[in-house]
Amino acid sequence: MTRTPKTYDDLYAEAKGLIDIEVPLFTNLANLTALIKLRCQWFWVGFYEVINNELVLSAFQGPPACVKIPFGKGVCGQSWKLKESIIVDNVNEFEGHIACNEASKSEIVIPIYDNNQRVKFIFDIDHTNYGEFKLQDKVGLKKCLTLIEELL
Ligand code: SME
Repeated sequence: MTRTPKTYDDLYAEAKGLIDIEVPLFTNLANLTALIKLRCQWFWVGFYEVINNELVLSAFQGPPACVKIPFGKGVCGQSWKLKESIIVDNVNEFEGHIACNEASKSEIVIPIYDNNQRVKFIFDIDHTNYGEFKLQDKVGLKKCLTLIEELL
């Protein structure tokens, strides 16, 4: 599907309507992955949580995935280490990429920060096409993820 800034304005509005500050954080994470997967039809959408020295699989939608990722490893671990979003056009060309599912060809990962600017989660989306994610996806998704940061 073609995604435009409007796609993300709509997604943000819908996500904002789903967030409930009275329920556990996990409930909101799960509902957000469900919404994004449903609207964008991506292969895998999910969160990894920083727990001690590794990333641990949290709420997600899609096929089963790797449950633990060490600091600095894979795209997610690099994003945590660098404190930067990463867009990978071709996972085969990213050194150290962790292949949870061989159908994944491109991905985007975005760190989520707590109030102390520490990385608390890594948000990860995988696609079965190469080169699927662009700057506008990063911008639009980051805005949606501020809804989670506001809960931390
Ligand atoms: N490919 C990721 C691992 C997580 S899965 O894609 C769900 C990585 O290299 O960190």
